[in-house]
Amino acid sequence: VTKKIQIAIDGPAGAGKSTIAKIAAEKLGYTYIDTGAMYRALTLKALTEKIDLSSEQAVTDLLKNSTIELKPSPQGQLVFLDGVDVSSEIRSNEVTSNVSKVAAHASMRAIMVELQYDMAVKGGVIMDGRDIGTAVLPKAELKIFMSATVEERARRRFEDNQQRGIESSFESLKEEIALRDKMDSEREASPLVQAEDAIFVDTTHLNIEQSAEEILKLATERMS
Ligand code: CDP
Ligand code: CDP
Repeated sequence: VTKKIQIAIDGPAGAGKSTIAKIAAEKLGYTYIDTGAMYRALTLKALTEKIDLSSEQAVTDLLKNSTIELKPSPQGQLVFLDGVDVSSEIRSNEVTSNVSKVAAHASMRAIMVELQYDMAVKGGVIMDGRDIGTAVLPKAELKIFMSATVEERARRRFEDNQQRGIESSFESLKEEIALRDKMDSEREASPLVQAEDAIFVDTTHLNIEQSAEEILKLATERMS
């Protein structure tokens, strides 16, 4: 007999969290929830409305006055901000380089955590982000902390960009990733940190298939 469990995947940028979570969710018939997309959507709105990103009050009020929804589709998860599909806009360089600033505010995070917790109540869920095992789903049956060297993570992002025809330099991507990791890990409000009961998975030398296998093996153990 297998039971439906909650799987939390945290870790730094480019570790492979969303790619692996998507594959595992499909294999298990689980719901995949990309929490980073929600912080990105809020950042997009803050930039569009020229909100002061360093103001906790302004950023929190902005979230209170926004609707952020994740909807499954055949092309993958779509992100809606106030009813408008912003799935591609939230991946822009401008959003990427500002999201950690927005994500640092404690009172805004409290609201996000509640929204995300409510999305997971039905069980059979895989959620990825930075604080899932520590703040959003502290009781998740399986917690993974996924990482890889910063060189490998930058190399992956560089390849992603090349495939999409976006020009970028490896060195600047590496710097951007390292800075975001630093900001995410050093903030006071639920920083990026491995939960005590999380399993560390290093994907530096694993390909996508091998990484997914590893997670599915751990999930199957917890489900039985
Ligand atoms: O996919 P990528 O690694 O580029 O990042 P993401 O998962 O889309 O998350 C973007 C940013 O949102 C992170 O760098 C964090 O600043 C923030 N974030 C967070 O603070 N907490 C989460 N649970 C998820 C994302
Ligand atoms: O969600 P996160 O930022 O942790 O990483 P991702 O967006 O899932 O993965 C970043 C890139 O690395 C994607 O292009 C993946 O296909 C690739 N990847 C890889 O080459 N090998 C792995 N073991 C995992 C991911």
